[in-house]
Amino acid sequence: MTAQIIDGKAIAATLLNSIQSRINTRLKANKRAPSLAVVLVGADPASAIYVRNKRLACEKVGIRSIAYDLPASTTETELLDLIRQLNQDENIDGILVQSPLPPQIKDEHIIEHISPNKDVDGFHPYNIGRLAVRQPTLRSCTPFGVIKMLSASNIELKGLNAVVIGVSNHVGRPMGLELLLAGCTVTSCHRHTKNLDQIIMQADLVIAAAGKPGLIQGAWINPGAIVVDIGINRLADGSITGDVDFDAARLRAGYITPVPGGVGPMTVATLMENTLLALELQEAKLTHIANH
Ligand code: GUN
Repeated sequence: MTAQIIDGKAIAATLLNSIQSRINTRLKANKRAPSLAVVLVGADPASAIYVRNKRLACEKVGIRSIAYDLPASTTETELLDLIRQLNQDENIDGILVQSPLPPQIKDEHIIEHISPNKDVDGFHPYNIGRLAVRQPTLRSCTPFGVIKMLSASNIELKGLNAVVIGVSNHVGRPMGLELLLAGCTVTSCHRHTKNLDQIIMQADLVIAAAGKPGLIQGAWINPGAIVVDIGINRLADGSITGDVDFDAARLRAGYITPVPGGVGPMTVATLMENTLLALELQEAKLTHIANH
């Protein structure tokens, strides 16, 4: 068997087109375009590429992106001051602070200070909590992007035995919550997990989010399983690879996502959708207040 390749780039392009037409409809109705503050601290080359892709996606769909490129020496207090200012600015709908941040700034401190209504990354504990209690609003972009990608591929998730490898706050944990919400039986694996290979062999759906190149061997894949690779690892030669041994796994899997061109574009497209949603939610709240 050779797996069907899930083309994340094509699915994301379709999603971006639909966001673009929703924004065009707003503009025709004399409503303003959504706006996203994109904050980059320092000059990490990988972050610069991600941020560039996000800004290009904004341009494509008609979201106004406002760049805040800060020096690597920025203090936590300075960044928190900027966040407070952006929280109060009624013309800003979403705030994205690209991670990783320089060592003097704690990611968690920054995320906690972003208004949950503008947390388009879906990282704030309030938004993760809403997902945990089955009332999601702004959902973490990568896990929600994976769900949308599987749904666009007509894959039914209800009842699947899903295994997530990796339990990071931004990806692995919300991924588990998304799968639970979708009706999967979920196993989360991490550095202390014993017999990882045997657990993966039981899975109908394998989601790799460990950030370790080639961690998941092809021989571990249950024939016909769905394999989603969230890993983005840069090798010494500059090439990008996932967490799954793609060439071996594709011979056993039913479906598999490539790296690059799989989950990555879905993350960006979901960020765009979240930015539009953040604006729509604020408008709905204001209408509700005006009517009461
Ligand atoms: N760094 C790597 N991926 C992401 C992401 O999705 N959002 C943010 N804010 N930082 C990242």
